[in-house]
Amino acid sequence: MNPIQLTEQYVKSSLEGAEGGHDWWHIFRVWQTAKTIAAEEYVDIEVVELAALLHDIADSKFHDGDEEIGPAKAGEFLKSISVNEETIKHVQQIIRNMSFKASLGERDFHSKELEVVQDADRLDAIGAIGIARAFSYGGFKQREFYNPDIPPNLNMSKEEYKKSTAPTINHFYEKLLLLKDKMNTDTGRRMAQQRHEFMELYLEQFYGEWQGEK
Ligand code: ADP
Ligand code: NI
Repeated sequence: MNPIQLTEQYVKSSLEGAEGGHDWWHIFRVWQTAKTIAAEEYVDIEVVELAALLHDIADSKFHDGDEEIGPAKAGEFLKSISVNEETIKHVQQIIRNMSFKASLGERDFHSKELEVVQDADRLDAIGAIGIARAFSYGGFKQREFYNPDIPPNLNMSKEEYKKSTAPTINHFYEKLLLLKDKMNTDTGRRMAQQRHEFMELYLEQFYGEWQGEK
């Protein structure tokens, strides 16, 4: 097996039993989308695929906020299958710099490969799948779907964002509807625009149904 296939197998088995938003199928979708975007860019496709496959191998959210566990685990695995040092370092930098939380704080690393994988990950947070993931996450956290008395908070700090217990609909305004303007690549932007419009239609329908409109 080549490094991509070995990594696919490793990630699939490590994520056995993971919750819906970060299970193997999230990784699978980000991987496919990353390849779609990469086809339009000059990138090292091996770095893109490895980073897409490994980007959520250990989410800091589930490890007391430790943001170095992911890169360390990915690096260890890639070393064990003899991927070259330079590729490993690049993949680790991508994982370190990918999350929305990282982009709220300071960012010190850039590469086209990071842009591609980050776009692919962001695309999985919007559109039909993004909606499913948001409500799945909200259920996991036992949040309300919607509460008209709790308005979205558009100026959250990194800490407030991590601690928030607001209804799931608020997350659309606090994050999901903002993602289309954060895309790095042209292909990513086009895909985001289409998924964004679908979410707006969804919200319109949601509020109508909430009020018992016919
Ligand atoms: P990723 O792992 O893709 O970088 P996150 O860890 O930030 O993304 O979130 C995983 C999924 O859970 C995303 O689809 C995101 O929109 C959703 N999510 C995160 N926070 C909330 C929230 N407060 N309410 C609803 N969904 C959320
Ligand atoms: Ni992800």
